[in-house]
Amino acid sequence: MAARRTGVKGSCSRPDAAKGGEMRALIAGNWKMHGTGQALEEVRKVADAAAAIDCDLLLCPPATLLHRAVEASGGRLPIGAQDCHWERSGAFTGDISAEMLVDAGARAVIVGHSERRLYHAESDQQVEAKARAAQAVGLVTIICVGESEAERAAGQEMAVVGRQLSGSIPEGSSAQTCVVAYEPVWAIGSGRTPTREEILAMHGFIRTSLGRRLGGAGQAMRILYGGSVKPANAAQILGLPDVAGALVGGASLKADEFLAIARAAGQEINHGKPTLR
Ligand code: PGA
Repeated sequence: MAARRTGVKGSCSRPDAAKGGEMRALIAGNWKMHGTGQALEEVRKVADAAAAIDCDLLLCPPATLLHRAVEASGGRLPIGAQDCHWERSGAFTGDISAEMLVDAGARAVIVGHSERRLYHAESDQQVEAKARAAQAVGLVTIICVGESEAERAAGQEMAVVGRQLSGSIPEGSSAQTCVVAYEPVWAIGSGRTPTREEILAMHGFIRTSLGRRLGGAGQAMRILYGGSVKPANAAQILGLPDVAGALVGGASLKADEFLAIARAAGQEINHGKPTLR
């Protein structure tokens, strides 16, 4: 079957879903608090390979590397940030506004990552405000949701994710402005991943919730899976219906591993299988 294309070029476009009713996979790398100038070599390697890969790519280095990563990418790979403030400017020492990220060359921003929710006590309300600020200046928002191990053990995973979705995603979000990343907290950096059935159930639940709240715009959004995605399990996870890509932490730090996951996405999602919707 022919590649399912959106008309979005993966190399230098920003993540842009559902053009013409089609959905293109997105593999986003979250470097977290890793990387100094030496790591820009990995950005260059990914940028060099991007044109030959059949999915959208995005790398989100730490803020200190943002502008240099944009330059290193040579316009062939979109670069994103890992967080932003909800205000445009002000007395918020250490914070960075969405407008500043755009000024540094970012095309997207991750908001509501569980590490921000946990270590910085971010609420759904704050995540929603950040996403709104980011979308207002044209950044694509990757909004993260996911349950803890205790919440899953208590059978609360859908209730928790449902609350996060309704509290964190701004009204008026669309597939062009918003990507949802389902990241079970217990799978992040642990080497553990949910079963196929667990991912299927949660992605289906998220799709239904988005549709109920935002109609067709919600139905069309890309839903990524995140948490211990590696080259070894990428094809299996990305081959699941309704998984439109991945948010990759540890394995995004090395270009070779990140590209292996992206190639799996190109094969599993953009070719030959009725996945989304
Ligand atoms: P991981 O992190 O791939 O290292 O598990 C994923 C994430 O936190 O986005």
